[in-house]
Amino acid sequence: MTDALAEQLDGIKIEDSDTSKDPIFAAKDHASEFDPSQYLEGFYKSASEDTAMQVVLFFLPGVLYRLPNSIENVLDLGAGPTVYIPIAMRNRAQNIFTSDYAEANRKTLQSWIENKSDFDWGNVCKWILNIEASTETPEKMQADARSKMRGILEVNVHKEPVVQNIFYKVDKSYEVPKQFDVITTVFCLEYASETLEEYARAVKGAISLIKPGGYLVQGGVLHANEYSFGGKRFRCHYLTQQNLVKNLKDNGMCTEDKNNNFKLIIHEEIFILVSKKLA
Ligand SMILES: C[S@@+](CC[C@H](N)C(=O)[O-])C[C@H]1O[C@@H](n2cnc3c(N)ncnc32)[C@H](O)[C@@H]1O
Repeated sequence: MTDALAEQLDGIKIEDSDTSKDPIFAAKDHASEFDPSQYLEGFYKSASEDTAMQVVLFFLPGVLYRLPNSIENVLDLGAGPTVYIPIAMRNRAQNIFTSDYAEANRKTLQSWIENKSDFDWGNVCKWILNIEASTETPEKMQADARSKMRGILEVNVHKEPVVQNIFYKVDKSYEVPKQFDVITTVFCLEYASETLEEYARAVKGAISLIKPGGYLVQGGVLHANEYSFGGKRFRCHYLTQQNLVKNLKDNGMCTEDKNNNFKLIIHEEIFILVSKKLA
């Protein structure tokens, strides 16, 4: 790690603001209460604004580096209205699918794929470029990522199958695989759940989408009961490191840091990990 990056990481500290008077919603209410614009404004307007996002973006390139150089099919599970995963994976993946539970988010994803996005991803691109030490422009990064996009799926990690519907296909000829080489899922599984039982079901659902020998890239938050943006709070599952790792292991994922098959990074209660599905 360069000194400049180490200094940047050192500056990433979680600061709480008082949101206790905001109305609180259930995890399942994401379908009707999630406002994509408020979310993007709150967390992604400037990548240096939200600390949780900074931690994920800071460690993401290094985590992705552990994946095979060429990946056939990737799905970002519970992407919300965000596209930083396709952008960060633009040079490694051949086919990228994205997905969400809330229709408003799927529509926002569609507008980005069709290059009609209201939101400027330039700052997030610059942050990723800085970590990658690359000299591309944000426009080229997004164009390359867009060229890999194949479709948007309606998902629910509590249902079987998790993929409930194909919401949008870039081209009718693209087949949606039943299982993917890589599933990425960030701030989704513990946010889609309120109890440990629900969390376990969500993890099982996510892992069911990974091919044997494929990988999970998971990011999220430990020890939180809720999160908030745009004047609304959503309840979430209070996840511990022990339950995070146990649920991976229970579902046939590697949880030992041998042969590059598992890596867990935790900074300021935010975690990001990569784990290989044992064949
Ligand atoms: C905090 S957002 C995370 C968005 C994005 N992955 C990110 O890193 O910013 C949580 C997402 O989980 C999705 N979600 C909630 N319940 C879900 C469920 N049952 N199945 C799949 N996704 C769900 C929400 O719609 C929302 O987009």
